[in-house]
Amino acid sequence: MAGMIITVAYEAKGKRANHVFDMKATNRDVYEQVTKPLVDSAVSGFNATIFAYGQTSSGKTHTMMGSKTERGVLELVVNEIFDAIESNPDREYLLRVSFIEIYQEQITDLLTGSTRLKVSDAHNEVVIKELSEEMCSTPDSVIDVMKKGEKLRHIACTNMNERSSRSHTIFRIIIESRSRCETGSDEIAIQLSHLNLVDLAGSEKVNQTGATGGRFKEGCAINVSLSALGKVIDQLSKNERHVNFRDNKLTHILRNSLGGNARTAIICAISPASVDETLSTLR
Ligand SMILES: Nc1ncnc2c1ncn2[C@@H]1O[C@H](COP(=O)(O)OP(=O)(O)OP(=O)(O)O)[C@@H](O)[C@H]1O
Ligand SMILES: [Mg+2]
Repeated sequence: MAGMIITVAYEAKGKRANHVFDMKATNRDVYEQVTKPLVDSAVSGFNATIFAYGQTSSGKTHTMMGSKTERGVLELVVNEIFDAIESNPDREYLLRVSFIEIYQEQITDLLTGSTRLKVSDAHNEVVIKELSEEMCSTPDSVIDVMKKGEKLRHIACTNMNERSSRSHTIFRIIIESRSRCETGSDEIAIQLSHLNLVDLAGSEKVNQTGATGGRFKEGCAINVSLSALGKVIDQLSKNERHVNFRDNKLTHILRNSLGGNARTAIICAISPASVDETLSTLR
């Protein structure tokens, strides 16, 4: 089935898909055309978010995290950030990363394993209390952090996917920079931006996954939070005055990276396993 995966990328504020990729496309093709411009924005101080969205087993985790033989979007993004930093010697950069899991509406820090973290709003900022951050100075150190966190993520075997993601994850790269050339001023302007790479759990139908008990409960929680995300993206794309960010942990945490000046790209992975699910993903 993997060979049949098609990926569609969509900018939330547009009305239609920007790019369509067929089964021959590589993660690098998706990265070059869809996510590279967002990385450039993030390095220039704008928040950006890249989602992988779609039904279970359609290739979201493969696209974001890669495999033994192919690098994922995350790794390509990280290399690009370090290249951008190197080619900008006039600024001093500091990079920190955090790795968040949302499992059945509970937030876990994938770098420490701490669970039930609280999210709150303070001075128009969304704060996750006690969330750890690791300072990284090389691309390899970022990838090591990603791999460490991935080991703690909730995954399980279903009829559809041997390693199905049962939670949403947000890998956040915090880019802080300041000019090396500013002199004569007491206050040095610091630029701060968040780049979020979100690997969502896939939407699923019970009759396909064969989920019962705990798996069934997970599937319900996944579908509820994906509907909440769909609603928020729909409200944003219609410029509605009220957006239901706080209905759900995922949209609450990403509030400042979805609305306002943030740039968002959604990579929709689709597969022939279910036509209904494909249509709903594209909608
Ligand atoms: N483009 C691709 N090339 C080769 N293998 C792929 C590709 N996309 C997906 N696969 C393989 O298909 C299987 C399912 O993919 P993956 O785990 O990425 O799906 P998912 O969308 O993350 O599913 P879930 O929502 O259940 O987490 C994996 O074994 C993965 O390696
Ligand atoms: Mg997955």
